Amino acid sequence: MAAKIAVYPGSFDPVTKGHLDIIKRAANLFDEVVVAVLKSETKTSLFSFEERKEMIEKSITGVNNVRVESFDGLLVAFMAKENAKVILRGIRGTEDFQSEWERAQINKMLDPTVETVFLLSAPELSYISSSAAKQVVSFGGDAAPMLPAPALEALKDAYLNKRKQ
Ligand code: COA
Repeated sequence: MAAKIAVYPGSFDPVTKGHLDIIKRAANLFDEVVVAVLKSETKTSLFSFEERKEMIEKSITGVNNVRVESFDGLLVAFMAKENAKVILRGIRGTEDFQSEWERAQINKMLDPTVETVFLLSAPELSYISSSAAKQVVSFGGDAAPMLPAPALEALKDAYLNKRKQ
């Protein structure tokens, strides 16, 4: 039987503890999880895709069946390249559901063989977003409950060096 691969796409600018929770839980459900970092997007990223990828890699040490890749263009094209049929997304609340519902329908229209699978965020992590974490760090707050150590350090460094968002 073919290996069950789940692709978890996102901008991960930067990866948060909410994302990591989804990745680790999915690693228990699928043979392999491919975290797919979007290279370019309409909103400007604080970190380059190489930096975002590296932060995820440093945050998932010890989880053997997770691989981090980057992609550009349509997600379904990346899915085909990876020979994967499952898109994985996390849902933090009703707002996420609304946008994820639409995205899943578009991906299904583009490739009917692809399924989107949703995991509900852990309640204690469902308030976290990358931009909220960036805001906390930029104003000198402690974002440790929101971010894995590699992302926290990179964010502190970015704001210390006055990198603009
Ligand atoms: N924990 C913490 N934060 C989470 C989260 C979780 N479990 N799930 C989502 N988020 C947050 C992110 O931190 C991010 O926060 P921010 O806006 O403050 O930065 C926000 O939710 C959205 O991030 P992301 O998951 O990266 O989604 P996105 O809306 O940027 O979409 C893709 C990313 C890659 C899924 C989407 O752009 C895509 O598929 N692109 C390819 C083009 C394509 O195929 N289009 C056709 C389908 S529409």
